[in-house]
Amino acid sequence: MSFMPLGSMQEPRPSDTVLALIEAALNSDFVAVRRLGTTLVRSLPEPDRVSTQERLTRLFRGAGGTRPPHAVAPLDVKTKSPLVEELPWPTGPLFLDDEDSQLLERFIAEAQAADELAGAGLAPRSNLLLVGPPGTGKTLTAGHIAARLGLPFHVARLDTIVSSLLGDTAKNIRGIFDFVQREQGLLFLDEIDAVAKQRDDARDIGELKRVVNTLLQGLDRLDHRCVVIAASNHGHLLDPAVWRRFPYRLTVDQPAAGLRASLWSHYLGLDPAEAPIADALAGMSDGLSGSDVAEIALAARRTAHLKRTKVSFTAIAGALLDCANGKFSLPTIGELDRDATLSLRRAVGERFDLTNGQLSALFSVTYEAVAKDARVKRAGGKRRSGLAQQSGAAADGAPTAGARDRRR
Ligand SMILES: Nc1ncnc2c1ncn2[C@@H]1O[C@H](COP(=O)(O)OP(=O)(O)OP(=O)(O)O)[C@@H](O)[C@H]1O
Ligand SMILES: [Mg+2]
Repeated sequence: MSFMPLGSMQEPRPSDTVLALIEAALNSDFVAVRRLGTTLVRSLPEPDRVSTQERLTRLFRGAGGTRPPHAVAPLDVKTKSPLVEELPWPTGPLFLDDEDSQLLERFIAEAQAADELAGAGLAPRSNLLLVGPPGTGKTLTAGHIAARLGLPFHVARLDTIVSSLLGDTAKNIRGIFDFVQREQGLLFLDEIDAVAKQRDDARDIGELKRVVNTLLQGLDRLDHRCVVIAASNHGHLLDPAVWRRFPYRLTVDQPAAGLRASLWSHYLGLDPAEAPIADALAGMSDGLSGSDVAEIALAARRTAHLKRTKVSFTAIAGALLDCANGKFSLPTIGELDRDATLSLRRAVGERFDLTNGQLSALFSVTYEAVAKDARVKRAGGKRRSGLAQQSGAAADGAPTAGARDRRR
């Protein structure tokens, strides 16, 4: 498991960026001003970086920012709203497993060498398709790739383009591709299934066929320097002809345990000595997306900040117990009393396969206290299974002997 931190990129020296920024401003090259401004902010040390990035985003969006995006971005034929938005490069890291990381590195290496490859008659098709459930980091991945390639991150949300005006969709799509060809940036086609649904879908024949064809033509007409990343939550809805245009495909899934531990560590700001906590939370968050982990962790940190206390791992454990029972929850804000904490600790011990060491780290109690819980439970379990045998019923809900025995 590894990740692609922004710091691993080859960043220009801040002094070069400052000069390039001034030159871009003097030349009224506002695309470059936005890009260089973002690069400069990314070179700031924490914690300045995050707050300055937020202020910069507000500046970009505000009246006193750079040129309004619709001055150059293509506009919706009827509503005149911009079809493409330029987003800032992400400032936080992207966590990926090794296999996915390798695929993306290869994609980036080819896109970086596009001119050289084209010169050798091997022009790459720098198109990547990301398929996966919501919150698994597809947009974040696309933003990181734009940053790595030093390209503006142009985002087109195809669902809004299609749903607003079906009749003008083909025209809008042509406008988007003309724009990207002109700007030579990275185009992120979000929710591509909205237009790329199978052409033989009985409900959408006719207009949708034309729309898909326009999309295919747009992809085919782009030159080798343009990079297109498309994302979909519904890969199975995609037309095979669209799939073929994306030689690089990455199916992103809910993160596995190792990756979840890295996500918890990062979003909770844990230090290496707190690895047992990250591992425990990873063990309790199977099935959650990266976005879910970020949301829960950041909610806990916000509460801690406002209450001037430490992050409550107990409250996070309570939220994760709810999530495991099918109800997505954020950590509670209020304090749990002693009894409530004890019963939560026992419920967590029952529900998840955690070691005693992890439980004691999570609930800030001694190893002995947790070991006692386990002994009480084992005795209870024996009594229950004895009763079950007497009545001929199966014991239910108790953790397996294997799960208990694995506890240190
Ligand atoms: N692999 C990851 N590494 C780091 N953070 C992640 C990762 N996956 C998700 N996140 C967190 O979740 C947030 C949302 O992720 P993102 O918007 O990229 O998901 P998505 O797959 O594009 O979702 P959707 O399908 O809803 O558009 C990110 O901004 C980040 O905070
Ligand atoms: Mg997204």
